[in-house]
This record gives sequence, structure tokens and C-alpha cells, in this order.
Amino acid sequence: MPEAKIEAWLEEDREFTPSAAFSAQANAQPSIYEEAGADPVAWWREQADRLTWTTTPTKSLEWDLPNAKWFADGTLNASVSCVDVHVSEGRGGRVAFHWVADAEGESRTITYHELHRQVCRTANALIELGVTKGDRIAVYMPMIPEAIFAMLAIVRLGAIHSVVFGGFSAEALGSRILDSNCRFVVTADGAFRRGTASPLKAAVDEALKSCPNVSAVLVVKRTESDVEWVPGRDHWWHDIVERQSDVHEPEAFPAETPLFIMYTSGTTAKPKGIFHTTAGYLTQAATTYYNVFDVKPETDVCWTAADIGWITGHSYIVYGPLINGVTQILYEGLPDSGGRDRWWKIISGYKATILYTAPTTIRTLMKWGHQIPEEYDLTSLRLLGTVGEPINPEAWMWYRKNIGGDRCPIVDTWWQTETGAILCSPLPGVTSTKPGAAMRALPGISTAVVDDAGNPVGHGEGGYLVVTQPWPAMIRGIWGDPDRFFDTYWSRFPGKYFAGDGAKLDAEGDLWLLGRVDDVMNISGHRLSTTEVEHALVGHRAVAEAAVVGASDETTGQAIVAFVTLKLSAEDAEKDHAALIEELRAHVASTISPIAKPREIILTPDLPKTRSGKIMRRLLRDVAENRSLGDVTTLTDPTVVNMITGLMDTHASSDD
Ligand code: PRX
Repeated sequence: MPEAKIEAWLEEDREFTPSAAFSAQANAQPSIYEEAGADPVAWWREQADRLTWTTTPTKSLEWDLPNAKWFADGTLNASVSCVDVHVSEGRGGRVAFHWVADAEGESRTITYHELHRQVCRTANALIELGVTKGDRIAVYMPMIPEAIFAMLAIVRLGAIHSVVFGGFSAEALGSRILDSNCRFVVTADGAFRRGTASPLKAAVDEALKSCPNVSAVLVVKRTESDVEWVPGRDHWWHDIVERQSDVHEPEAFPAETPLFIMYTSGTTAKPKGIFHTTAGYLTQAATTYYNVFDVKPETDVCWTAADIGWITGHSYIVYGPLINGVTQILYEGLPDSGGRDRWWKIISGYKATILYTAPTTIRTLMKWGHQIPEEYDLTSLRLLGTVGEPINPEAWMWYRKNIGGDRCPIVDTWWQTETGAILCSPLPGVTSTKPGAAMRALPGISTAVVDDAGNPVGHGEGGYLVVTQPWPAMIRGIWGDPDRFFDTYWSRFPGKYFAGDGAKLDAEGDLWLLGRVDDVMNISGHRLSTTEVEHALVGHRAVAEAAVVGASDETTGQAIVAFVTLKLSAEDAEKDHAALIEELRAHVASTISPIAKPREIILTPDLPKTRSGKIMRRLLRDVAENRSLGDVTTLTDPTVVNMITGLMDTHASSDD
């Protein structure tokens, strides 16, 4: 699908060159590529001056593949660069966050001065609970300011946050807490979604049944829901944080101090704890935010519409924007909390200038109709961004026209949890844009598209995206598993970082991302592995075997289709298939997250396998996407395919 579409769009030769007015004011100038390219390591060292150092580093890069150290002899405190510096340099009165609640009419304004007070108090509370340098702390929170206070307070103490998206199940939370041996959890009683409170603390209680090392849980009261309480372990935020001193003297830590862990799906059932360290990560988050989003801290109102439970929230709500000292919108709700016009109300109400979101959301907004945003004054917007999955040219054009008024540059930013910050994107005011293309690597970054043998492909050709030189925000490892770190990223193409994405260079050498080439699916911009979902399915008593594929989906990019063979107990044999399928979908949602709920489950007496017993996923993908089946000569029992195709037809016609 993507390749044919790209060809069609390229034939139309759609390319938008930067407007002279935008270029004249842009943070990035065309010479930046050359300046950075001449000596990337030295250029990154200059960018590190964006941070507030206690000891200025004299070292830049030490590289012993796959281990990188950046600015290693420098010392600093991450929260000082994000918060204290703005207060001490007289910017404390600037708004850091306009927080907008799920419910209309509820909001809070948090200046940098207030942010500083809150971070200091939270840090003091964490000290009282026993947190010390190097501790891992799970943060399982809704999109409320306390989530950010907690993250910044944790890193202020040299501790390490592991933010787990609030939509994950108790089981998923528990396995993440265990994997990095977190001793503390910060959470809330519940979260609001479209006005309805859903519990969070209950999931923490459930998860902690299998996590004996957690000694304290700090709980924000957000929804007034009833919660169970473990005396001695559980502490209300309002009891313990609010009585703390506003003063906390930050300690300086070495540049390579671990900053956070973020779990993400790989190709196995077990999510990987990607960890990042302090100065390299912060340098690149701040630099890319400045150049790619062209931010003007005095005047911009920036909105990264992502959850802090994902890397986008870490790099472009918390660290990048705060180091730049910008004003942001922080929104708790869903795009249709209070009505389908909610986003446009927020943008026009706060006069937002920069909007950063995912293609899935753009496609949903598009489905709701251009008439909705048309009702609002969106002329404050001056730049739009997208991230998380390939954006189809139709959605890109809709975004440009209906939200950006054909005036705002669009930055299609390619990066990953592992890369920590954006690696490929147009630079507004400098680079031309094409609908659906990430265009090129940013200054100071070296990427290539290579063939199976690792050789660079020519213009007009496709292959695998690799990064050929270390970069400051690069993953420093998988928590507790150095071998997996090397094997996953550095073994496929010796000397190069393998991202797992297919990509193509067009006739002019510009970069187009084509999606994952491994068993990682991308559902609404969220990463999930096929094996993770299969694992959840076979955990159900009725399931003998399961094979999961990502099939293309108009709205979510990809959707999960599962092929399942049953081992029916007497109890399950009584149920009709539709009821059992619903039960299996719900089972996956409660084991992993509602994000992982399969769109379709096909019950089949057998799965197609190669002679060596491997499930033929490619073939199942073709079946799920109704494509012709290609080469099936290695299949043990070709009748299985016909049977599955038949089942799909029946299923499609009786689809609910
Ligand atoms: O497949 C790529 C896709 O998202 C993957 C990374 O997912 P995650 O670590 O969850 O981080 C998402 C937010 C940075 C990549 O391997 N991806 C991300 N951005 C783009 C993209 N695919 C195409 N175009 C993008 N702009």
C-alpha cells in the first residue's frame, strides 16, 4: 500500500517550499546542516550549552560500540535545566503549563515559579518516603500536573522514573515494576475519560500483590473514587507533599546518570526497558525542540497532544519544552471529551501556536469532518507536527489545509523510544516538505537506507533505515539485559544501529518511512509485538494456539487480527463463538491494555505452518488484508489457508 501511494503522490510532484516570511524568522538556517556536518561531535558539544551545568564537560563522545558516553565528565541536575534556571534568570512568572481538564471549565495555570515550588516539595516528600539516588520509581498517572512534578522531582534526586502509561493493565504494570525492581510507585486514585472516572489505584494494588519490594505508594486524589488503603505503604499526596518545604537544594550528578526507563515492545513477548541517561538525552531533546518546532519561548503556546506515558510525552512535553522555557498546553482528556470540537476550543481559547500529534488522531479528526474545526479561529497556529507512524498523504493534506490553513509548515518527525529524540524531519523554514515524507536526517545525525547486505541503496530504492553514527539521546541499554541490547540493534548490520523500519529514498534522495519490517505492530502509533498479544491469547484457558498479525486499517494505521485455535473445555463448548471471541478480546485488553484488543479474532481449526513448524505470518497478513496469497509452496497443509480464507469471508459478512 504505502509504496503505490507514494508513487502516485510523487507523480503529482507535490512539494511545499518554505515561505519566505517563515524562513526569515526561523530558528534554523540553511547553513545548519553544513555546520553540524563538518564536525557533528563538536556541534553537539556546542548544543550541550543549552543545559545548565554544574561542572562544564570537557569530553564530548566516547564510543565503544554499542556503548556511548556523551559529555561524561560534566555534572548537572536535570530538573535545574528544566525549572530552576528559568526562575533564577527572571522567567519565573512565565506560564509553564496551561493545564486543561477532561471536564470543560476546569483548568489550572502553572508558572515556572509555581512549577519550581511543586517540584521542590515533591522532592522533599520523596526523600521523606525514603527515595535515594539510583532508585527506580514507577509513575502510573493520568495527565495531571502532578505527573510532571513527580517526574522532575524523581530526577532531581538522581532517581530513575519508569512511567507506565495509565491505560496499561495491572499485569502489565506489575511486570514493569518487577523488571526494574521499582521500590516506589506514584499514582492517582483514578483518571477521567470523557467525564467518567476509571480506577488507577486499584490496578496498582493488584500489581503490587506480586511486587514485594515496593515500600511506598504516593497517591494523588483526582476522582474521589473509593480506594483500598494499605497503612504504612500508601500515602495521600495532599497529606505528605503539601506540608513540605518549598526549598530543595539540588545535587549535581554525572552526565551519564540514568534518567529514566521506558518500556516498549520488541519482537518477543517481554517488553524491553529502554533506558536513557541525563546530559546527552537532554541536549538532543532541547536542540530538536528548538530547531524542529522553531519555538519562540516568549510568544509560543505549544501543544504536544501526547500522553506522558510515552516517549513523545517525555521528550516533547517534559524535557525538551521545559529546557527551552516555553509555555505549553497540558490536556487531560480525549479528543472528544465534551464534544468533537474540544481540541479546536482549546486551540482557539489558548491561542495555541504549535500542535504536535499522531496520524491516527489526524485521521479520526478527518473522519469527524472539516466542518468542526471550521467553526473555530485556528489562525494562531503557525506550525504542525506529526509522529508515531507513517502519515498517509491524504491525512497530511487534510491537516495542512483544514488545521494549518495552508500556511503552517508540517514537520513529519521520525524517531523511536530508543532514539530518545527526533532523528529525521524537515526543518521548518529550511527544508521543503512532501506529504508523507520525513525528508532527511537532522543536523548532527547520520542515517542511511541500506539493502539486505548493508549497502546504501540509490535514489528511488527501498531498504532498511539505519543510523550510522552515535547520537547524544541514543538508548544506553535495555535494563538488565546487555546481550539483548546488542542483538536487537547492533547485530543485523555490523557497526550500524538497526531501527526495525523499512524506508525508501525517492528520486531526489528524500526519505519516506514505510513501517516496521519486524514483528512489531503499530496500532494508533502505539508499539505492540505480535508475540506479546499471542502470549496473552494463549494465556486464556480456551486457546490452544494463536497467531497475530498487524493488518492495515484506515484509522489506526494497523489493527490486530488474531487467528486462534481452541482447546475447548466443556464450559467453553457451551458458548457460541461470538461470545467466546468477545471474551478473548476482553481477555487481551485486561492482560495488556485496551490498545491491544484485537480488531478481529478468527477461530480456525489449524494454523498455516512451514515444514519446519513456523507459523506463516506473511500469509496470514495477506489473508487478513484480503490480498492474493503469493508463494505457499512451503506450507505443510495448503488446505489450511483455504479454510482460513473461507472463515475470513464468513466473518467479514457477519461482522458486527
Ligand atoms: O515504526 C516507526 C514508527 O514508530 C516506531 C517507534 O515507536 P515508539 O518507540 O513507540 O515511538 C513513537 C514516538 C516517537 C518507529 O520504529 N514511527 C515513529 N515516527 C514515525 C514512524 N513511522 C513513520 N513516520 C514517522 N514520523
